[in-house]
Amino acid sequence: MYSQGLIGANTETKETQEFLDAFQARIDAEIKIEPNDPMPAAYRKTLIRMIGQHAHSEIVGMLPEGNWITRAPTLRRKVALLAKVQDEGGHGLYLYSAAETLGVSREQMTEELLNGSAKYSSIFNYPTPTWADIGAIGWLVDGAAIMNQVPLCRCSYGPYARAMIRVCKEESFHQRQGYELMKTLTEGNEDQKQMAQDALNRWWWPSIMMFGPSDTDSQHSDQSMKWKIKRFTNDELRQKFIDATVPQAKLIGLTLPDPDLKWNENKNEDGGYDFGEINWDEFWKVVKGHGMMNKDRIRARKKAWDDGAWVRDAALAYAKKSEQQNSEAA
Ligand code: 3HC
Repeated sequence: MYSQGLIGANTETKETQEFLDAFQARIDAEIKIEPNDPMPAAYRKTLIRMIGQHAHSEIVGMLPEGNWITRAPTLRRKVALLAKVQDEGGHGLYLYSAAETLGVSREQMTEELLNGSAKYSSIFNYPTPTWADIGAIGWLVDGAAIMNQVPLCRCSYGPYARAMIRVCKEESFHQRQGYELMKTLTEGNEDQKQMAQDALNRWWWPSIMMFGPSDTDSQHSDQSMKWKIKRFTNDELRQKFIDATVPQAKLIGLTLPDPDLKWNENKNEDGGYDFGEINWDEFWKVVKGHGMMNKDRIRARKKAWDDGAWVRDAALAYAKKSEQQNSEAA
């Protein structure tokens, strides 16, 4: 059924109801969609948006942590942080490549990031004033990323699902090194423990906002769930993250900045934590570009893009010359 009357992805596909039904049947049968498969334009558009913004998040996410590479307190911490930041860069390039399989160019995605028409995760618009912020980012931000990205390993789009497998393995190291950093601080002197508590206070709420708006306000979730791009809703993943993280905070003697946090054994099947109201005004303010660091992040990305123009031009010139030489030799 699927192959009948359907033409390749890279040519205009007439989106008859029969085509859409056949596509959905493929999704429901858990058959991965590959780059050259015919797909609805809206499916392609959603994936370009999600994967492109995910890639931007990885690259912009290098900035708050990169700020501490030269100031890490020991060589061991410096090595771990260097490795993590390099991993994030690799995740970004990996994901830009996955997005390019859908017919969008890296240049176009970068242009959309720099002109504000493409987003990146809100979480990277907060400053990192102390070393403990680096621990909180690893523990909470990468912990939230794992919660969000493990289900993406089962995304219906093949290249994205496959990219996530390696990304998630590396995120596990990121989360573990961050949590161990925080644990070490809580076992230090009073100042160090307070530094860890202050960082937790700064990063807890922005980390649970990372999962996106509530399900009632999420404009893309329903369709993304139908297409099995998403396997869980924003609120379901947020709840999983909170339920997993609260015991971790208790274990290292830190207090979560939410007085309404309370175990509710009647929540979901296995119980779960009730938590306080999320400040959605803060969330949307940051998403719309008015967070503490939004302008700094885009300025840094624009400088890197401009400073790297000569490298791109040289590489393209070399590729063109090699092509000419090869065609002359043929
Ligand atoms: N920051 C910025 N924008 C956000 C956001 C956030 N935390 N959460 C949602 N939004 C935006 C959406 O992009 C959408 O805007 P758009 O239409 O202009 O793209 C709008 O708010 C409505 O949100 P929806 O819930 O309807 O959007 P989605 O269905 O796309 O869900 C998402 C949002 C959960 C972030 C989803 O896109 C997703 O899972 N993306 C893939 C994973 C990802 O990008 N994670 C970001 C962090 S990457 C990271 O953590 C790196 C790690 O190394 C630390």
